[in-house]
Amino acid sequence: DEITWSINDAQRGDYAHFMEKEIFEQPAALENTMRGRFAADGSTTQFGGLNLSADELRQVDRLLLCACGTAWHACLVAKHLIERFAGLPVEVDYASEFRYRNAPLSPRTLCVVMSQSGETIDTLAALREAQRKGHRVLAITNVVGSTIAREADGGIYQHAGPEIGVASTKAFTSQLLVGAMLALHLARLRSLSFNDGADYVAALRAVPQLVRQALEQAPHIAQIAARYVQAADMLFLGRLALFPIALEGALKLKEISYIHAEGYPAAELKHGPIALISEACPSVFFVTRGELFSKVLSSMQEVKARRGKIIAICTTGLELPADLADEVIRIPDCHEAVLPIVATIPVQLLSYYMARELGCDVDKPRNLAKSVTVE
Ligand code: G6P
Repeated sequence: DEITWSINDAQRGDYAHFMEKEIFEQPAALENTMRGRFAADGSTTQFGGLNLSADELRQVDRLLLCACGTAWHACLVAKHLIERFAGLPVEVDYASEFRYRNAPLSPRTLCVVMSQSGETIDTLAALREAQRKGHRVLAITNVVGSTIAREADGGIYQHAGPEIGVASTKAFTSQLLVGAMLALHLARLRSLSFNDGADYVAALRAVPQLVRQALEQAPHIAQIAARYVQAADMLFLGRLALFPIALEGALKLKEISYIHAEGYPAAELKHGPIALISEACPSVFFVTRGELFSKVLSSMQEVKARRGKIIAICTTGLELPADLADEVIRIPDCHEAVLPIVATIPVQLLSYYMARELGCDVDKPRNLAKSVTVE
């Protein structure tokens, strides 16, 4: 096992918190996650440690992804991309549930566990349970030589560098990136064309630059954060691959600012959460182009009609109806495989600045641990 980072990587430098440092070092972390992982033909990704041949990967008929916390959100995004681009059915489970629920798995199911630390006890138990039933288990981890990395049958290291802040930021986006790269790899072993593969690769290579652009909104987001710190509750609403980013936005806010927040697919608003809407409960909407654009706008209208404040995280080039959103945060438009990564940046910054505004101990939030090694 090798250590791939230097002691400087574990120091705070000029940043107020590790979380802030880790948010801003994402372009470099994501660059490291991709290094050496593109195939020479420019249409797919390659991984050194899967320990599965191309033929074995073609035999897989279903994937099971298991994780906890933030990593579970990354698995939900990976599911979306693997189903969409590789056409493989994917199930996502909380590791803590999988280990006890005796899930029936077809013999050709490939299990993948995801854990930043590689030490989360429930994720380790899920890995062992899947192996006991005869399944190969791959691990996506950030910590080289961690228990989960050692016990897995193969895997992919995130290479995001050490993450000190309890609330995961760069480890999350690097998990999203690994998931997107794995989806491409599986897709190119199946039906994805060379040209679509090459477009996908170009989109992956652009990620550090896209994230840099999204980070430029930081001063604007800090101002917005200051206006909403009195919120009692907050809703995060997104669709498809951005629904898990809504969950992640809500989780970040809860973790470090202690403001109650929930993430929903935007169309679920009417099935309950709309009852919460008032001036004291702002909503964050992800707005992107595509067939669901107009549906997201009508969800926003429903909130507006009930005096709810709206913060729209919206891709560049999209026109929003005047006066619909109270605040607009722009993110660069990009390929759907990498949009979840880019869309994560504003919710990280929003929760960070809100927590800072409230004087919270951002790097060590109450009651939380960086890695949970007891059940
Ligand atoms: C803890 C941390 C979370 C993390 C989760 C899973 O709850 O506070 O930030 O997402 O564990 O950690 P892992 O290391 O397995 O990704």
